[in-house]
Amino acid sequence: MKLLIVGATGLVGSHLLRLALADGRVGHVAAPARRPLATHPKLQAPQVDFDRLPQDAPWWQADATICTLGTTIKAAGSQEAFRRVDHDYPLAAAQLARRHGTPAFVLNSAIGADPASRIFYNRVKGELERDLAAVGFASLTHVRPGFIGGQRQESRPGEQAMVLALRVLGPVLPRRWRINPAPRIAQALLEAAIQARPGVHVVASDALA
Ligand SMILES: NC(=O)c1ccc[n+]([C@@H]2O[C@H](COP(=O)([O-])OP(=O)(O)OC[C@H]3O[C@@H](n4cnc5c(N)ncnc54)[C@H](OP(=O)(O)O)[C@@H]3O)[C@@H](O)[C@H]2O)c1
Repeated sequence: MKLLIVGATGLVGSHLLRLALADGRVGHVAAPARRPLATHPKLQAPQVDFDRLPQDAPWWQADATICTLGTTIKAAGSQEAFRRVDHDYPLAAAQLARRHGTPAFVLNSAIGADPASRIFYNRVKGELERDLAAVGFASLTHVRPGFIGGQRQESRPGEQAMVLALRVLGPVLPRRWRINPAPRIAQALLEAAIQARPGVHVVASDALA
């Protein structure tokens, strides 16, 4: 199959890219990114500006698209800038993929995603899930991790403290609040893309612990 990955340079995205390139069921991966990626015979990684995505690139046509794009409000600098990265860019990529005939889309969303949430982060994630449902994919899966576990290059002290606390409390916590390791999330994203079951599906955090 042909897979399109948006966000392949991130924590989950880099695990996903490694898994996809090693998977015999995946013949070709296109991974548009703003930074270069290491070369691989199965990989095409065009460098793009997400504010000016190419409209007619042939790599938009795939059997499935997986999106692991996202930022933090701190890194983005404002709620508006966060929304652009976590909502507008994924939606634009989904619309282009669909327009070029891609039938399946898998989103790395988040626990609590809800367009009616009073929490800004959860609301943006929920709005993206809602808006993706209107794009017209035959198969759409929202994978909703809780806290993501893994080694980051960038320092996120608040998140690290939370991950530490969750690790200590892990055994007594309900499954849905346990840490979701990035490779486990990546595997769930890849399986959803390969299976491409018709309809809209949610993979909850307790299935990712
Ligand atoms: N952190 C958590 O515990 C947590 C929990 C639940 C859900 N999530 C969500 O899960 C998803 C994946 O998380 P992650 O931790 O793997 O993310 P990450 O490591 O921060 O990677 C994010 C990806 O988005 C890209 N990106 C960020 N800002 C961009 C911009 N302005 N323009 C273009 N690309 C941009 C990054 O590209 P560069 O490499 O070029 O920066 C990278 O490929 C995100 O949507 C996140 O919100 C996170």
